[in-house]
Amino acid sequence: MRVYITGADGSLGKAVTQELAADPRTAGWPVLGVSVSDFDIADEQAVAESIAGFRPDVVLHLAAISIVAACQTDVELGLRVNVAGVHQVAEACRAAGSRMVYISSDYVFDGIAAPEGDYRETDTPNPLSVYGLTKLAGEQIAERVPEHLVVRTSWLFGGAAENNDDVLATIRSAERGERQELIDDQYSRPTYTVDLARAIIHLIGLDEFPVGTVHVANRNSATRYELGAHALNAYDPKLHAEHPPTAVSFDDCTFVGGRPKVSALNTDRLAALGVTMPTWQDAVARHCAVLRSETESRRTTV
Ligand SMILES: NC(=O)c1ccc[n+]([C@@H]2O[C@H](COP(=O)([O-])OP(=O)(O)OC[C@H]3O[C@@H](n4cnc5c(N)ncnc54)[C@H](OP(=O)(O)O)[C@@H]3O)[C@@H](O)[C@H]2O)c1
Repeated sequence: MRVYITGADGSLGKAVTQELAADPRTAGWPVLGVSVSDFDIADEQAVAESIAGFRPDVVLHLAAISIVAACQTDVELGLRVNVAGVHQVAEACRAAGSRMVYISSDYVFDGIAAPEGDYRETDTPNPLSVYGLTKLAGEQIAERVPEHLVVRTSWLFGGAAENNDDVLATIRSAERGERQELIDDQYSRPTYTVDLARAIIHLIGLDEFPVGTVHVANRNSATRYELGAHALNAYDPKLHAEHPPTAVSFDDCTFVGGRPKVSALNTDRLAALGVTMPTWQDAVARHCAVLRSETESRRTTV
């Protein structure tokens, strides 16, 4: 299978690229990853030529402005990348006869329609932010590709950048001795990029491509406080004891762009397609082990 990845330098893009290289089931699959340094995803001609040139069986469209506040403060940028960019990729997929996998978000929901969370694929979206609106528009554009798969996921961690990985941000902030306030009454399902990447690889490898929408998230829901405190303790219990995060309430916080208070995704369809996700606690343990070994090898090198 020929796999084309946009946003290959991003958090999820790196995980997908690594997992495709590591998985014996995907050995020999030609993979082309492109990033913003190759071309702007909203550049019609560049996108069309690149996808037509590679002739992918499947395009994993991961490029996006993934920071909620960034879309809210620069609406034009959010629309260009998250809407016009999806349009260019979808058009190129249609022209090349490629399948398209589009990554969407739990932030298409408002947290009101399903107050206990547990949003199903069939529930009605109602985004509260520009980011959520652009992701929903992207879903609708991707759906125009005959063989499309919309993967909604939530609260990714496992990236290389603090601004896009709550686990890493909490650890680094504690190491700097900063006081951290984390919300303890906003719920979703934290998801490890590595586990999401493995699920995507499973889905695209199925004999029958699962057209439609599927929710992919690690098992169990959590608050940002639970995630941060658990991760800090898993990474270094001493660091956690010295710099524990402080729990704050969602209603006491001001956000740039609205957020759903509860947006946990139901993953029954994913299970029916053969994927049982690990718990987020298990995923945090694996991510922290990687972070610890990276820190150790940096210390050894210095
Ligand atoms: N992060 C989350 O918690 C979360 C939750 C639910 C869904 N998602 C979705 O999951 C997908 C992957 O997210 P992620 O966390 O991997 O995001 P990410 O780390 O920010 O990666 C996105 C990539 O897209 C690239 N990009 C941005 N603007 C571009 C442009 N104009 N042209 C080409 N490439 C461009 C970025 O490059 P630069 O960084 O160099 O600009 C980056 O490499 C996104 O669709 C996101 O909306 C994320």
